[in-house]
Amino acid sequence: MASPADRKQHQREAFRADDPAAGPLTTDQGVEVDHTDDSLAAGERGPTLMEDFHFREKLTRFDHERIPERVVHARGAGAYGYFEPYESCAEFTRAAFLQDPSVRTPVFVRFSTVQGPKGSADTVRDVRGFATKFYTSEGNYDLVGNNFPVFFIQDGIKFPDFVHAVKPEPHNDIPTGASAHDTLWDFVSLQPETLHAIMWLMSDRAIPRSYRMMQGFGVHTFRFVSAEGRGTFVKFHWKPKLGVHSLVWDEAQECQGRDPDFNRRDLWDAIEAGEYPEWELGVQLVPEEDEFAFDFDLLDPTKIIPEEQVPVRPIGRMVLDRNPENFFAETEQVAFHTANVVPGIDFTNDPLLQARNFSYLDTQLIRLGGPNFSQLPVNRPVAPVRNNQRDGYHQSAIHSGTNYSPNSLGGGCPAHAGAGGRAYTHYAERVDGHTIRRRSPSFQDHYSQTAMFWNSMTDWERQHIVEAFRFELGKVGAVTVRARTVEHLAKVDGELAARVARGVGIPEPSGAQAPSKHASPALSLESLRGDGSI
Ligand code: HEM
Repeated sequence: MASPADRKQHQREAFRADDPAAGPLTTDQGVEVDHTDDSLAAGERGPTLMEDFHFREKLTRFDHERIPERVVHARGAGAYGYFEPYESCAEFTRAAFLQDPSVRTPVFVRFSTVQGPKGSADTVRDVRGFATKFYTSEGNYDLVGNNFPVFFIQDGIKFPDFVHAVKPEPHNDIPTGASAHDTLWDFVSLQPETLHAIMWLMSDRAIPRSYRMMQGFGVHTFRFVSAEGRGTFVKFHWKPKLGVHSLVWDEAQECQGRDPDFNRRDLWDAIEAGEYPEWELGVQLVPEEDEFAFDFDLLDPTKIIPEEQVPVRPIGRMVLDRNPENFFAETEQVAFHTANVVPGIDFTNDPLLQARNFSYLDTQLIRLGGPNFSQLPVNRPVAPVRNNQRDGYHQSAIHSGTNYSPNSLGGGCPAHAGAGGRAYTHYAERVDGHTIRRRSPSFQDHYSQTAMFWNSMTDWERQHIVEAFRFELGKVGAVTVRARTVEHLAKVDGELAARVARGVGIPEPSGAQAPSKHASPALSLESLRGDGSI
């Protein structure tokens, strides 16, 4: 009998391809082939015949081997493992996988770089994705995080602009500079909400030594919901047991040349050697009534909740102990989605999260060729799936009976679970106000937490940040872009701005400010409490 953690492995067995060593070569139709080294020709030296179905099938299958790479996070490495909670979290969430320390939930994790294409190098300066799929008894839960706790933009409507600026230039697919480019820094200088994440990007956090030595963050404020329907705001943190380690820039560059698979190989080799990487899952919990207790907006994904204010509470651990058997079938075809939630975990109105809840399924419909990709072994829940969504490309199950609801004829229509029980119930959040296309004033302060990050750095960490700015920004051709960026840095910290300015050929900004509070949104936040309008 499979243990709960083995359920996924058991399920995968059912999808194993026929053993290639068990018999002779066949076509896709199961017809044995005499040999596959020569095509069928009309005469010794004649043309290849159309009737050679084996030749045509083999070439056709090869011609169709590629699917679109992910529009971001194209390059990655994945592994299976399990999660187990330390204790019941029932006080805050009814999520079944967070109730019982004796229950192990199978997981699949994919780590990734963001900007580069599928064949790029691992050790580039970039954010790293850290996406976890929990195959829970109540359905799949995806925690689709990054190794930075903050993001570059506040509203998902800016995501296409941001990614276009980050990617190589549209006319020749080449970044303007050696590794940085004018378009990214132009965007940064015009959109100062990027600054906090940019500081993380210029720090050593952007060149992790190993995926095994990297933190993960859910970034957004999510919501735990208890069995009684009580909401608690929650931020998720993954903490690696091996500690957080980075490369230094020279090492990172050397690795890019010597072993572009440096991080992927490290993860694979460690798991093969039985050195299973482990992370602790921690949460920062904020009661609903404290929503406006901070001098930043909990819905703003460019902000952290300082741990001095809300400590991280460890709630469980995750171990990765099995490499995938087939990169394409599993790591490439895995489909994470922020909207894959289970009862007890809900969203907030973070405008970046709201956009993500649309984007992932949408992109996967094209990337994975239609609506049935949740049937792929790596995506398939271990919980039963019963609904009337049946047709479409690549349906691999045979459903029976009718497929509509309500339905008095029976035969195919699953019963409604009704509220309560195991059914997902959306958190009853109060909604109010007028439609408006405007960023909330409570999202306006882009400098205080950026300064906090800079102030928390040691001297040598600051030196690395300054050198990274000089290297990246120094390559930007447009003097105005360099100058505008330095002006923003001056609002973060005068010394930082001066040191960067000296390295990128820009006059030191006069009257550069010392770190300070640039806005005091606490008041405006308090004013949101009433009816939710502004
Ligand atoms: C991948 C969109 C922000 C983490 C992707 C993909 C899209 C996307 C389209 C490719 C998915 C696929 O082809 O399967 C967006 C949008 C965002 C956003 C529209 C903002 C509005 C974020 C943020 C995080 C994040 C804030 C981290 C907290 C990831 C990760 C992946 C990913 C980890 C790779 C998943 C994998 O390994 O397959 N994103 N993203 N994204 N995104 Fe986002």
